[in-house]
Amino acid sequence: MYGLNGIKITGGIPLQGEVQIQGSKNAALPMMAAALLNRGTTVLLGCPKISDVFLMEHILNHLGAKTCWKGNTLEIHGGDITTFTVDEEAGSQMRSSVVLLGSLLGRCQSAAVPYPGGCVIGKRPIDLHLDALKRLGAVFREENGMLIAETCGLQGAVISFPKSSVGATQNAILGAVCASGESLLLGCSKEPEVTWLCRFLKAAGAHILGEGTDTLRIRGVRELHDVEFQIPADRIAAGTYVCASAITRGEGVLLGAPIGEMEALLWAYGKIGGQYRYNSGKLTLHSLNATKPVQLLETQIYPGFPTDLQSVFMAVLATAEGDSCIVENIFEDRFKMVSQLQKMGALIEVCQSKAKIRGNSLTGARVEAQELRGGAALVLAGLAARGETYVENRHFIERGYEDICRDLSHMGARILKD
Ligand code: EPZ
Repeated sequence: MYGLNGIKITGGIPLQGEVQIQGSKNAALPMMAAALLNRGTTVLLGCPKISDVFLMEHILNHLGAKTCWKGNTLEIHGGDITTFTVDEEAGSQMRSSVVLLGSLLGRCQSAAVPYPGGCVIGKRPIDLHLDALKRLGAVFREENGMLIAETCGLQGAVISFPKSSVGATQNAILGAVCASGESLLLGCSKEPEVTWLCRFLKAAGAHILGEGTDTLRIRGVRELHDVEFQIPADRIAAGTYVCASAITRGEGVLLGAPIGEMEALLWAYGKIGGQYRYNSGKLTLHSLNATKPVQLLETQIYPGFPTDLQSVFMAVLATAEGDSCIVENIFEDRFKMVSQLQKMGALIEVCQSKAKIRGNSLTGARVEAQELRGGAALVLAGLAARGETYVENRHFIERGYEDICRDLSHMGARILKD
């Protein structure tokens, strides 16, 4: 199999060994956007070196912010913002550039962002973002494919979200923390990445009450001050490596896994026969008996089973001894990797938001990653498959995993970039 920006895996090896869990992609990105609200220095410790972070860094540099890395520490100097227009080429590659709306409006009273791109997992509209920011006093228009936002100064408001949205909640928070007056946000997403953003903002001087709940009270401040903040561990990367242990019926020790944010995944891991114990920062896995199917697994908003682990858990269930069913309730098109798993012998039938999976043994094949978490699922399937698997389009996986080959090699996998 030839080099094509891919990953080559030799399957059939039960994993073991230790892996350190990286910093959270979905916590880091909004904190980087929030750094625009501080004219001084923001220091993010334990920042994951992934392409989405480098892309956001490029966007911040283009806006005039200075950045520098020292190991996994990212320093952002927000003093000289020279434009409020997000670089179109970079911004359109990554959906999370849309949260720059809130921080640019708070800093510059204007923002111009390209309509957000991102993974192919669904339409991914931004109506909830726009409605929330309009409530704070922003007006929007479209010009040559760019979304232009303006305000004569954001004002505190009551914002009620009709449905849970991580990004829209984060955008509203970023708009409210430096607005004048009080804001009340109802129906907020309770995903850990929202709670962590609130903790970060409070450490930088914001006045926020209610983090971790669906109701946030925010009193605007003039601007944020310098802060040094430890980015939390990535619960989705940790869940991915739990599934890697499970699919190979191996063992494994995860260091620094955010166990308190992984209850739904660990419940599912126990359902299939996985056993684990946790002490002093070590999550020890025993997956010898992780062979059972799950009659029904539904993705839900936090603290339910995370949509971001649906694909990788499907790969595990594709090797179970029996029939399982997964229902994807968050995104309308998140079964993209099924056709690729079927190339490896997976017996999966999809009907709208439901996937029926009959456990089977998998055989190595050449498959194509088409988005971040589906790509990770294909790598995991390769760990269990007989023979060699080649996963093309490694760049999708590198959006969210610092080095999946390094991490899985630490767990004993035969895997390499090719
Ligand atoms: C965040 O995306 C994450 N991305 C996603 O992770 C994650 O899957 C998702 O939250 C759900 O947990 C980042 O944090 C960068 P949403 P986001 O707004 O904010 C609909 C990964 O793999 N919706 O909570 O875009 C939307 O279409 C990525 O790391 C609207 O209808 O997710 C979806 O069906 C993939 N209107 C649902 O809400 C809006 O204005 C949840 O989306 C916004 C969203």
